[in-house]
Amino acid sequence: MIDIHCHILPGVDDGAADLSESVKMAKIAHADGISKIIATPHINEPSITRQSLIIRHEMLTQRLEEKMIPVDILLGGEVSFYLDSSQFNLHTLNGTKYILIEFPAGHLLQRAGEILFHLILKGFYPIIAHPERNAAILKNPDMLFNLLNMQVLVQITAGSLTGMFGQDSKACARFLLRKGAVSFIASDAHSARYRRPVLSEAVHKAGKIIGKENALKLVTTNPEAMLAGEKIRR
Ligand SMILES: [Fe+2]
Repeated sequence: MIDIHCHILPGVDDGAADLSESVKMAKIAHADGISKIIATPHINEPSITRQSLIIRHEMLTQRLEEKMIPVDILLGGEVSFYLDSSQFNLHTLNGTKYILIEFPAGHLLQRAGEILFHLILKGFYPIIAHPERNAAILKNPDMLFNLLNMQVLVQITAGSLTGMFGQDSKACARFLLRKGAVSFIASDAHSARYRRPVLSEAVHKAGKIIGKENALKLVTTNPEAMLAGEKIRR
């Protein structure tokens, strides 16, 4: 499996605090059957430089090699909607045109559609991170479907399907799966103790809704296609 959203990079955001925590997370991911992780630290201010992320990425890759933990770490970001759009091309997922976009948790900006449209015009393929945890979308899922009409993709969080974020997010995640709106399930893991990098339980639960094969696509063939830069159809 490939986890496209994980805060495994050490010491950069509210994810792994240090390298040893990152290594613990990689061990957990490996035990769960995850072979590749895209490290997606929060990119919410211009002071987070690409170079600082590359240095941490190299440190982590080297440490995992030393420890013989067979998990490939790729580099990306969870890009805040508020970031200046001139910065976006620095933080795509593993250098592809795919970009993981984080909305504010409490509301959906009025300009969401406009900004996503401009991203698409510039050639990006936006992926909305965990809309099932957005308060405005929970109240009115049509807001999301209006955005999806523009070829925007959706990533839901594994923990939403297992109930970690409450019944409303769980119901919304299940609803989005049933509607065929979901292209990726990812861990959005932040540590080795809580919000851990595991996908298998959520994939199992998704399989009961959309069938095992379709559920597996969300953590295998869809992420592979994304990393190959191919266009993904919902
Ligand atoms: Fe995240």
